[in-house]
Amino acid sequence: MKSVKKVAIVFSVIAFVALLLVAVGCDKAAVPTPAGTEEAAATDIAKGKGLYDIQPQPLHSVAQCAQCHIGVFDRIKDAGGKHQIECVSCHTEFHVFNPKKRPYQTAIPKCETCHGVFHGEGTKQTPLVDCASCHTDPHAPLIIPGAALSNNACMSCHTKETKQITDNVSRHTTEVSCSDCHHVKHGYIPKCNECHESHSPGYEMDDAACMSCHPVHMPAKITYSKKETPNLICAGCHDKAYGLLQNNITKHTDVKCSDCHSAHKRIPLCSECHGMPHSNRMMQDTTKCGDCHSIAHNLPVS
Ligand code: HEC
Ligand code: HEC
Ligand code: HEC
Ligand code: HEC
Ligand code: HEC
Ligand code: HEC
Ligand code: HEC
Ligand code: HEC
Ligand code: HEC
Ligand code: HEC
Ligand code: HEC
Ligand code: HEC
Repeated sequence: MKSVKKVAIVFSVIAFVALLLVAVGCDKAAVPTPAGTEEAAATDIAKGKGLYDIQPQPLHSVAQCAQCHIGVFDRIKDAGGKHQIECVSCHTEFHVFNPKKRPYQTAIPKCETCHGVFHGEGTKQTPLVDCASCHTDPHAPLIIPGAALSNNACMSCHTKETKQITDNVSRHTTEVSCSDCHHVKHGYIPKCNECHESHSPGYEMDDAACMSCHPVHMPAKITYSKKETPNLICAGCHDKAYGLLQNNITKHTDVKCSDCHSAHKRIPLCSECHGMPHSNRMMQDTTKCGDCHSIAHNLPVS
C-alpha cells in the first residue's frame, strides 16, 4: 500500500512537471516576438545572456512620457512657456497615486519646491499663496481664467491701474470690477461695445477714439483735442446746438465746437478770439456782445 502511494505521488509530480513544461513551451510560442529582438535574444543566449539579463532604466525623458500622455505633452508644447522642462523635474514621483494608500494631493508636485517667493510678499498686500486658484493648469501656467482673479488680486501686481481707477471715481470704479472687463482670461482687453452703444452713431469710432476722450480707467475725466474733434461726436448729444450752427451759415459755422468749447461744458468769452472789436462809443450802451449778435451758434446774418 505504502509503495503504491509513493509511486502514485511520484507519477503525479512527473505529470505535473511535464504539463508545466508543455504549458511554458506553448506560452513562449504564443507570445509574438518583435522581429530583430528574437535574433538579438538568440545572440545574447549564444553569448550566455538571457532575455532578462538587463538593468531596466526608469522612465525619464519627455519623449517616453509623451508616448502615453500625449494630451499633457501637447498642452505643454503649446502653452507650457517656461515649464517646457523635463516632466520628471516636477514629477520626481509618478504612478504612485492610489486612492487608498496615497492621496492625489501628496502625489503631485509642489510649486514651492522650485518657487520660493509669493506674489505680494514683502509688500503691504496679502501674499497670493494658493497658486492653483489662478494658475489652474501647471502644464499651461500663464493661461489664467479671468474669473479666477478678484480686484484685490489685481492690485498686488497692477498698482498703477488700480490707483488710477480708485483715485478717479467713475462708474467704472463703482459699477464694474476689473475682471468684469478683463474677463475670459488674464490680459484680455475688452471692447467698449461689449457694454456700450455709441452715443454718437453719426460718426464712426473705434475703441481708441472712445478712449481719446475717456481714458478707460478714469472715463469721467473727459479730455479732447481742441482742433481735431469732429462736431458730429458732440452732435450725438447736442443736436440743437449742432443744428443752429449748421443751418445759419456764418463765419462761426466753420469753427469747430471743440475750438470754442476747449473743455467739456466750458463756455468761452468772445474776447478770447476777438479781443475788443468795436469802439467804446459803439459799446457805450452795453457790455454784452449778445445784445447785438444774439448767440454764438446763431449770429444774425448781416
Ligand atoms: C512645472 C511642473 C510640471 C511639469 C513640467 C509637468 N507636470 Fe504634470 N503635473 C504637475 C502638477 C502640479 C500636476 C497636478 C495638477 C492637478 O491636478 O492639480 C500635474 C499633473 C499631471 C498629470 C495628472 C493630471 C492630468 O493633467 O492628467 C499627468 C498625467 C501629468 N501631470 C503628466 C505630465 C507629463 C507627461 C509631463 C511632461 C510631458 C508633465 N506632467 C510635466 C506639474 C508638472
Ligand atoms: C506606458 C504608458 C505610460 C507611460 C510611458 C507613462 N505613463 Fe503616466 N500614467 C499612465 C497611466 C495609464 C496613468 C493612469 C491614468 C491617467 O491618469 O492618465 C498614468 C498616470 C500618471 C500620473 C497621475 C497619477 C500618478 O500616480 O502620479 C502622472 C503624474 C504620470 N502618469 C506621469 C508620468 C510621467 C512623468 C511619465 C514619464 C516619466 C509617465 N507618466 C509615463 C501611463 C503611462
Ligand atoms: C521643478 C521645478 C518647478 C516646479 C515644481 C514648478 N515650477 Fe514653475 N517654473 C519653473 C521654472 C524653472 C520656471 C522658469 C524660471 C522662472 O520664471 O522662475 C518656471 C516658471 C513658472 C511660471 C512662468 C511661466 C512663463 O512661461 O513665464 C509660472 C506661472 C509658474 N512657473 C508657476 C508654477 C506653479 C503654479 C507651480 C505649481 C503648480 C510651479 N510653477 C511648479 C520650475 C518649476
Ligand atoms: C490671484 C492669482 C494668482 C495667484 C494666487 C498666484 N499667481 Fe502667479 N501669477 C499670476 C498672474 C496674473 C501672473 C502674470 C501672468 C503673466 O505674466 O501674464 C503670474 C505670474 C507668475 C509667475 C511668472 C512671473 C513672476 O512673477 O515670476 C510665476 C513664477 C508665478 N506666477 C508663480 C506663482 C506661484 C508659485 C504661486 C503660488 C505660491 C502663484 N503664482 C500664485 C496670478 C497668480
Ligand atoms: C501676479 C501678478 C499679477 C496679477 C495678480 C495680475 N496680473 Fe495682470 N499682468 C501681470 C504681468 C506680469 C503682466 C505683463 C505680461 C506681459 O507683458 O505679457 C500682466 C498683464 C496684464 C494686462 C495687459 C495685457 C496686455 O496685452 O498688455 C492686463 C489687461 C492685465 N494684466 C489685467 C489684470 C487684471 C484685470 C488682473 C486681476 C483680475 C490681473 N491682471 C492680475 C501680472 C499680474
Ligand atoms: C470698463 C472696463 C475696464 C475696467 C473696469 C478695468 N479695465 Fe483695465 N483696461 C481696459 C481696457 C479697454 C484696456 C486697454 C487700454 C488701452 O488700450 O489703452 C485696459 C488695460 C489694462 C491694463 C494694461 C495697461 C497697459 O498699459 O497695457 C492693465 C494692467 C489693466 N487694464 C488692469 C486693470 C485693473 C487692475 C483694473 C481694476 C482695478 C482694471 N484694469 C479695470 C478696460 C477695463
Ligand atoms: C464690462 C462692461 C463694460 C465695458 C467693457 C466698458 N464699460 Fe463703460 N461702463 C460700464 C458700466 C456698467 C457703466 C455704468 C453704467 C452706464 O453708464 O452705462 C459704464 C460707464 C461708462 C462711462 C460713464 C462714466 C461715468 O462715471 O460717468 C463712460 C464714459 C464709459 N463707460 C466709457 C467706456 C469706454 C470708452 C469703454 C471702452 C474702452 C468702456 N466704457 C467699456 C461697463 C463697461
Ligand atoms: C469727443 C469726446 C468723446 C468721444 C470720442 C466719446 N465720448 Fe463718450 N462722452 C463724451 C462726453 C462729453 C460725455 C458726456 C459726459 C457728461 O455727461 O458729463 C460722454 C459720455 C459717455 C458715456 C456716459 C453715458 C452717456 O451716454 O451719457 C458713455 C458710456 C460714453 N460716453 C461712452 C463712449 C464710447 C463707448 C465712445 C466710443 C464709441 C465714446 N464715449 C466716445 C465725450 C466723448
Ligand atoms: C454723451 C453725451 C454728450 C456728448 C457726446 C457731449 N456732451 Fe456736452 N453735455 C452733455 C451733458 C449731459 C451736459 C450737461 C447738460 C446740462 O447741464 O444741462 C453737457 C454740457 C455741455 C456744455 C455746457 C452747457 C451749459 O448749459 O452750460 C457744453 C458747452 C457742451 N456740453 C459742449 C459739448 C461739446 C463741444 C461736445 C463735443 C466735443 C459735447 N458737449 C459732447 C452731454 C454730452
Ligand atoms: C474760438 C474763437 C472764437 C470765439 C470764442 C468767438 N468767435 Fe466769433 N469768430 C471766430 C472766427 C475764427 C471768426 C471768423 C473770422 C474771420 O473769418 O475773419 C469769427 C467771426 C465772428 C463774427 C463775424 C460773423 C460773420 O459771419 O461775418 C462775429 C459777429 C463774431 N464772430 C462774434 C462772436 C461773438 C459775439 C462771440 C462770443 C459770443 C464770438 N464771436 C466768439 C472765432 C471765435
Ligand atoms: C451795439 C451792437 C453791437 C455790440 C454790442 C457788439 N457788436 Fe459786433 N458788430 C456789430 C455790428 C453792427 C457789426 C458790423 C456788422 C457787419 O458789418 O456786417 C459787428 C461786427 C462784428 C464782428 C465782425 C467784424 C468784421 O470785421 O467782420 C465781430 C467779430 C464782432 N462784431 C464781435 C463783437 C464782439 C466780440 C462783441 C462784444 C465784445 C460785439 N461784437 C458787440 C454790432 C455790435
Ligand atoms: C464760435 C464759438 C462756438 C462754437 C463754434 C460753438 N459754440 Fe457752443 N457756445 C458758445 C458760446 C459763446 C456759448 C454761450 C451762449 C452764447 O452766448 O452764445 C455756447 C453755448 C453752448 C451750449 C449751451 C447752450 C445751448 O445751446 O444748449 C452748448 C450745449 C454748446 N454751446 C454746444 C456746442 C456744440 C455742440 C457746438 C458744435 C456743434 C458748439 N457749441 C459750437 C460758443 C461756441
